[in-house]
Order: sequence, then C-alpha cells, then structure tokens
Amino acid sequence: MPDELLSRSFTIHGRDFERAGEASTEIKSLLKELEIDPAVIRRTVVIAFEAEMNVVMYADEGTVTFVLTDEDIGVEIADRGPGIPDLDLALQEGWSTATDEMREMGFGFGMGLPNIRRNSDEFSVKSRVGEGTVVSSRISLDGAP
Ligand SMILES: Nc1ncnc2c1ncn2[C@@H]1O[C@H](COP(=O)(O)OP(=O)(O)O)[C@@H](O)[C@H]1O
Ligand SMILES: [Mg+2]
Repeated sequence: MPDELLSRSFTIHGRDFERAGEASTEIKSLLKELEIDPAVIRRTVVIAFEAEMNVVMYADEGTVTFVLTDEDIGVEIADRGPGIPDLDLALQEGWSTATDEMREMGFGFGMGLPNIRRNSDEFSVKSRVGEGTVVSSRISLDGAP
C-alpha cells in the first residue's frame, strides 16, 4: 500500500463563476510547495481545473478530493447535478452543451473531459442522470502517462 502524504477536499458551487478555479489553484500551490515534478503538477492542475469548471458550469454542487501518496496523485470530483446522459458523446473532443454565455467567458470548447482523460494514468467517469457525476483520475508520480 502506498503511504498517504497529504489529502484535501474542497467544495465547489454550481454557477459560482466568481470562485471558479479556486480548488485547482489551491492544489497547484500545494504541489509546488512539495516540489513535485512540474509535468505532474501541470497534468494534475489541468484535470482538477477542467473537472472543477464542469461542476461550476453544469452541476449544482460538488466536492474535489485530492490525495497525494508517495506513488501517485488521486483526484476525484463528485457532484450532485443533472448527470451526463451519453458518456461516449461527452468524451468526444469538441462536444459541448455549453451556453453562448459560457462560450463568451472562454469555456465550452468540449475539450475538458478529453483532456482529463489524456492527462490521467487512470481515468473513470460515472454518471447517473438526475443524480450526478463522479470523475476519478490517478496520476503516477514517475514517468509519462
Ligand atoms: N459534471 C457534469 N455534469 C453534467 N454534465 C457534464 C458534466 N461534465 C461534463 N458534462 C457534459 O459533458 C459535456 C462535455 O464536457 P467537456 O468535455 O468538459 O466540455 P465543455 O465543458 O467544454 O462543454 C459538457 O458540455 C456537458 O454537457
Ligand atoms: Mg468542461
């Protein structure tokens, strides 16, 4: 069993664009203080940010749980919200249900879930329509994805 070194969890509020990105910024500074490999930090922050934004844009409320061990980083984002009816579609590059307003803010290119998957060594997304979504990622501390 890997040794757990640090864990944190953050609450994310749906539609709160004001505070959007705070959890991933916090995770970034924690990892920087710990002198983790910059490539690993970059991948973790992309995953956390994209998942956090998805909760802000599409869900009601969510929790980001971040766990660092001596082997890897785990990021889990669980929300209460509408869920994703077609996961295969949602994972396609460029597919998005973002509103015009969200696009004007610079979001909604349909690259969030594909980028989360690409940057993860292990990835899963589970969703129940009308209940919510859970995105789980693992990033290994050594080596490329
Ligand atoms: N947490 C979520 N809850 C409900 N729907 C989601 C969630 N995350 C993603 N989706 C759906 O999957 C689509 C694709 O997500 P993503 O790849 O991040 O692209 P984007 O956020 O740019 O639309 C979204 O447009 C949305 O319809
Ligand atoms: Mg997104």
